[in-house]
Amino acid sequence: MDKYVIKGGNRLTGEVNISGAKNAAVAIIPAVILADAPCRLENLPDISDVKTLLYIMDSMGARVDYLDRHTVEIDPRPVSTDTVDADVARRIRASYYFLGALLGRYHKAAVPLPGGCNFGVRPIDQHLKGFAALGCDYSLDNGMIAVTAQEELHGANIYLDVVTVGATMNIILAAVKARGLTVIENAAREPHIVDLANFLNTMGADIRGAGTDTIKIHGVQKLRGCTYSIIPDQIEAGTYMVAAAATGGDVTVRNVTPKHLESISAKLEEMGVTVEEGDDTVRVVCDKPLRKCNVKTQPHPGFPTDMQPQITALLAIARGTSMVNESVWEGNRFKYVGELRRMGAQITVDGKVAIVEGVDHLKGAPVRALDLRAGAAMVIAGLVAEGTTQVEDVKYIERGYENIVEKLVQLGADIYRRQDLSEEAPENVG
Ligand code: EPZ
Repeated sequence: MDKYVIKGGNRLTGEVNISGAKNAAVAIIPAVILADAPCRLENLPDISDVKTLLYIMDSMGARVDYLDRHTVEIDPRPVSTDTVDADVARRIRASYYFLGALLGRYHKAAVPLPGGCNFGVRPIDQHLKGFAALGCDYSLDNGMIAVTAQEELHGANIYLDVVTVGATMNIILAAVKARGLTVIENAAREPHIVDLANFLNTMGADIRGAGTDTIKIHGVQKLRGCTYSIIPDQIEAGTYMVAAAATGGDVTVRNVTPKHLESISAKLEEMGVTVEEGDDTVRVVCDKPLRKCNVKTQPHPGFPTDMQPQITALLAIARGTSMVNESVWEGNRFKYVGELRRMGAQITVDGKVAIVEGVDHLKGAPVRALDLRAGAAMVIAGLVAEGTTQVEDVKYIERGYENIVEKLVQLGADIYRRQDLSEEAPENVG
């Protein structure tokens, strides 16, 4: 598999432009199925997860036209099935958003049990609880989840047992055309949930309260086509902010919504980093040793779990001992710590808590990207390590980071992508 080769030690300086939000795009693309006319989506990130979802839409019969790398027009009218192709959909977790979208259109849906990152169990019981409340039955057959409404979907009061982004989004998708009022309590508040709600309201839906823990959805009969621009990616922005701090750099991160980054900015400032907010920029300057601090991941507006590996890589070179508490994901979102330890990091993990003893420097080594954000953490570690780091399995990273090598080179990093010719080498080279 291809790898990144990084020579550490360069300060990152200059400007980087942030792409559209992966976790908004992966819900908004399936949501187009609910429209009765074509939708134009702008500022889509050019990443493999988006390509996979557009391929699924195409395989279901939708007409997908790329107007440029970041703009597509999707006509959902030719979609002729309520079932998603198992072989492709299993590749990404976000394929489960087709459940809510297809329920909203056909009152029935069948989607493969979600795949996704390998950091522990990723249940969907809250999604199914929501669908049942809206009047659906469901079954799991041969790895496919089949959800069917006895008659039409009807509004309901749904109190989520867990604050979950996916279930909040999926219930919104199923409820926008249900008969009557649906209220979601204990809803997740992430920026990408607000973006989905804004997209659906642009189509004519009636969703209020997205971004708070109580979302009210009045069902409507029809949703029209529209043009919509995806919000900037909060986690991509945070990743470059941390990379700038790690290298003692001075980087202006452009095309962001500073409010979405507040918890990340606050944590960096706690570590002694300067963060200056503009209208749609944040400038990160680090010109003194990093201070230790403690981090606890929380649903938005708390510190994002998707920034947990990246901030841990930063704390690995801070002065003193820090504690990182992963409170969002069960299982093990610290698997990448073993890879950081190969680079000399002093980190011990006990369940959902990592104790990070800062070291003077990391040492380059061959490491692996175990999942999307773990991979980003390895790149950050490589940027500051002494010597050369090879990050393998970069396909995980490229699921969610558009042009990460080009963007880092633009900032002064010494990084390039080495193709793994063993993969392409023909069987018998004559
Ligand atoms: C989304 O995953 C993101 N993925 C994840 O980002 C992110 O880590 C997560 O939200 C939390 O912010 C996408 O948006 C495609 P959840 P999701 O449902 O929706 C439990 C990345 O790096 N839970 O909010 O699957 C669950 O086990 C990815 O971009 C239930 O118990 O996450 C977890 O502990 C990685 N039952 C917690 O809730 C359910 O039915 C949060 O999960 C659903 C979730």
